[in-house]
Amino acid sequence: MIPPFQFECHSPTVLFGAGRVADLAGRLDQIGKSRALLVTTEGGARRYRQVAEVLASRLRASFDRAVPHCPLEVANAALDAFRRRECDAVVTVGGGSTIGLGKYIAAETGAPHIALPTTLSGSEMTPLFGVLVDGEKRTRREPRALANTVIVDPVLARSLPIRETATTGMNALAHCIEALYVPKRNPLTSQLALTGIDMLYRALRKLADEPADLEARTEAAYGATIGGLMINSVGIGMHHRICHILGGRFEVPHGESNCVVLPHVLAYNASAIPEACSMMALVMGAHPAAALQRLVRDLGAPVALRELGVPADSIIAIASESFHHIDDNPLPVDEAAVLKLLQAAWAGQGPAVS
Ligand SMILES: [Fe+2]
Repeated sequence: MIPPFQFECHSPTVLFGAGRVADLAGRLDQIGKSRALLVTTEGGARRYRQVAEVLASRLRASFDRAVPHCPLEVANAALDAFRRRECDAVVTVGGGSTIGLGKYIAAETGAPHIALPTTLSGSEMTPLFGVLVDGEKRTRREPRALANTVIVDPVLARSLPIRETATTGMNALAHCIEALYVPKRNPLTSQLALTGIDMLYRALRKLADEPADLEARTEAAYGATIGGLMINSVGIGMHHRICHILGGRFEVPHGESNCVVLPHVLAYNASAIPEACSMMALVMGAHPAAALQRLVRDLGAPVALRELGVPADSIIAIASESFHHIDDNPLPVDEAAVLKLLQAAWAGQGPAVS
């Protein structure tokens, strides 16, 4: 029996598949733009030369100074290049910080943004972005920052190092797993989220042994795209609240905190989502939370907060702060439960599966 539900999702146009970078020029023509600013990192300018080649005469200017965390000075330098060269569209190729520059320009100017993601964070699907101002990350969410078009070409992501594949892949898995238990979940999103989990888990398992496997890269990118849709459609929950506190207080990179925390939060919530856990068990085995932590280890990514520079004596304060930010968990949460979970995560213990 399908229960009554409400489904909402604002999504960019998605062009998905190996080789689809070739469609970039045609897409620009289709939306009536012809003077692109191409934004990437210094390394990206070398790795993704093909994007500039596809743009050909539509490439008005390049900005290859994207750096992690999107500092305001860098964002304004990119915006300045966009305005000075009279560009009419921004094209980004890279990870979340590079795509964040595209969102900043789109939010400030209203120009269309075409994003070509090379990681699995799913950030290209959302209107959320952060800018670093005086050492503090300021997050913005603006409808104008939603990309016009996302081109997911797994061939571009083939050179992504396994560490980034693991950390951004676990972030994508978290977007899908949290979609199973947040209050706005509905049959459509749950079905999609389970597909995303299936794709990501199987793909990351394969990539642990064969990092350049194109089929696995394609499946992972598909799962990551679903993960981005899930953020837009149903939002985030307890796991992300904890990761954001860890990021804000100790600058733990988002993907790395995902690797450590996700198995523990899933183990905590498992009894509240038995059906979803049964579905996940078909892919991952009897204990999905334990399987996730094994996967993280096999990918060579961190499983303990102590590896990430989080001091032992800060755990009580993190637990308290996290608890006060969790408002929508399927199981009742108290401060002691969060503390227990974080102590296990700090030490790198196995998740408390029952
Ligand atoms: Fe995330």
